[in-house]
Amino acid sequence: MRKKIIAANWKMNMTSGEGVSFMEDLKLELKNFDGAEIVIIPSFTALPRLSEIISELPGITLGAQNMWHEPSGAFTGEVSAGMLREFFTRYVVLGHSERRIIFGETDELVNKKVKAAHAASLRPILCVGETLEERDADRHHEVLAKQLKGSLAGLDAEQMLDTVIAYEPVWAIGTGRTATPEQAQEAHAFIRKTLAEIFDPATAAKVRIQYGGSVKPDNAKELLHQPDIDGALVGGASLDPRSFAKIVQAAARK
Ligand code: PGA
Repeated sequence: MRKKIIAANWKMNMTSGEGVSFMEDLKLELKNFDGAEIVIIPSFTALPRLSEIISELPGITLGAQNMWHEPSGAFTGEVSAGMLREFFTRYVVLGHSERRIIFGETDELVNKKVKAAHAASLRPILCVGETLEERDADRHHEVLAKQLKGSLAGLDAEQMLDTVIAYEPVWAIGTGRTATPEQAQEAHAFIRKTLAEIFDPATAAKVRIQYGGSVKPDNAKELLHQPDIDGALVGGASLDPRSFAKIVQAAARK
């Protein structure tokens, strides 16, 4: 029912030229594949060239890593939703833990961005996840509920259906330490239950929830076959076309 969505979050890696050669290699690797929806999320500067390439590849869409919520104005260094739409960007990652931790983004700010993205017909990939300290204190449910309620405040059910949630435990990002499939499934089920409370059960059942945090070709299949895991947000392993293609293939329906 929920089509799997596998996204490559390149973070601050890959020039535009490197992105173009990645896409050439990925096309070769994915020849016989028609499974999941693929989203390539490069740096802002690579969006124009990748947009041209991706517009010709069915099943692959373009995403951005961040945006500012105002449509224009004196916000030096920021990029608006409208600017992203100019390159046919379909998705935008919001509330990534690197933005929350390094750049101090709060649920309130993320909520403004989520609303501005919808107003511009961009689909947010909203990231939530607990730190190691919070998990060790058994507080991950509390943290996830707070992030979801804060970041999704004021959205209607229709907008929720056009939103993807990415569960990314901070302790698993870039550390090589993945959540076990059981830990991830448990958190995803909790996220879906919380969405049912905020919206309604039918909406919650349709929302796609990605897992992110050290997803690699050798752990992707087990994670992606959990009942509430509908895709992956891949950082490190998405920089290599072969690894990324293997993760996409792991999402294939049996
Ligand atoms: P990682 O990053 O796959 O390198 O852990 C995931 C992410 O931050 O989206």
